Parts: sequence; C-alpha cells; structure tokens
Amino acid sequence: MSLRAGQFILLLVALAPVTGMTENAVALPDNYCSWEVKDYAIEEPLCGLDGDALRGKQIVSDSNLGNCLACHQLPIPGIEAYGTIGPPLQGIASRYTEAQIRVRIVDTRNINPMSIMPGFYRDPRLINRPGKPYRGKTFLTAQQVEDVIAYLVTLK
Ligand code: HEC
Repeated sequence: MSLRAGQFILLLVALAPVTGMTENAVALPDNYCSWEVKDYAIEEPLCGLDGDALRGKQIVSDSNLGNCLACHQLPIPGIEAYGTIGPPLQGIASRYTEAQIRVRIVDTRNINPMSIMPGFYRDPRLINRPGKPYRGKTFLTAQQVEDVIAYLVTLK
C-alpha cells in the first residue's frame, strides 16, 4: 500500500496525541539552577547550596525520593534488601571526588549516555515524555541533591 503525502500528514496529525509530538514544550522551572560539566565533574554545588549529610542519608533510603537502595547497596543498618543493578556505594568517596560524585547524581548520562540511573537534576526539558505530574520538574530539588552528595562524601 502506498500513502500519498496528504494522507501521510493526516496520519501524523492523528497520531500526534498518542506519540507525544505535541507535548514537547516543557518549560524550565523558575528555580532551576544551571550547572556545568568540566572534566567529567561538576565543581560548583547546585545553586551554591550547602548539603546536609543527615538529611541526605534519609533521602537515599526514601523510596519516594532518591530510592537509591532499589539499585545500590549502602552502609545503612536495618535495610533488608538492596538492589544490585548499580555498584555498591560503600567507599564511594575514596574512589571519586565530590565534584565527580555530583555529576553522577545530577545527570550521570554525562558520563555514560546509556545509563539507566535517573538523572536526579537533569534538565527537565531533556526528560523523555514524563508523566503530567512530573513535567518541568527535576526528580530531586537542588537542595536534596546537595544533601545526598554531602552524605556520599562521608562514605570513605
Ligand atoms: C534504576 C537504578 C538506579 C537508581 C534508582 C540509582 N542508581 Fe546510581 N547507578 C545505577 C547504575 C546502573 C550505575 C552504574 C553506572 C551506570 O550504569 O551509569 C550507577 C552508578 C552510581 C554511582 C557511581 C558508582 C561507581 O562506583 O562508579 C553513584 C555515586 C550512584 N550511582 C549514586 C546513586 C544515588 C545516590 C542514587 C539515589 C539518589 C542512585 N544512584 C540511584 C543505577 C541506579
């Protein structure tokens, strides 16, 4: 069967709501702070914020926030099962600098474009067809990302 141009365009218009082609315009949230990757690292804390290691420890084990334990083992007592999709994070701060940890939490696809790890402070315009409640949002706030990093740098 061959489609004429007109029919093809009609088909595209009909499919647009299904494929999300009309939903590409995602605005950056007003409070989004931009960041820069240099030498596979992000030196500057997001929005210039200070992280809090105790809050970070709560965020990594909260399945509604970081949910890191779904994929990583962390030295947190009382957790029955850890995910093994990602490497264990014990000793992460002796393998990487804070800036190298930051890029991996913010958007690790800058290191590994095929990574399945969520970019917790990825530019929301790059997130592929998010569900409506998540549109234009980062998975964690800048403060939460800095808290998580403050916790991870204690893991020597
Ligand atoms: C869906 C699974 C998944 C989740 C959720 C996840 N990660 Fe990852 N993470 C990975 C995988 C897989 C890797 C291995 C590198 C890669 O494939 O990008 C990784 C790598 C890392 C690394 C680098 C480790 C190394 O030794 O090189 C750090 C640090 C890290 N993750 C921290 C976190 C933190 C903190 C969270 C929660 C805020 C988190 N991850 C959530 C899957 C995940």
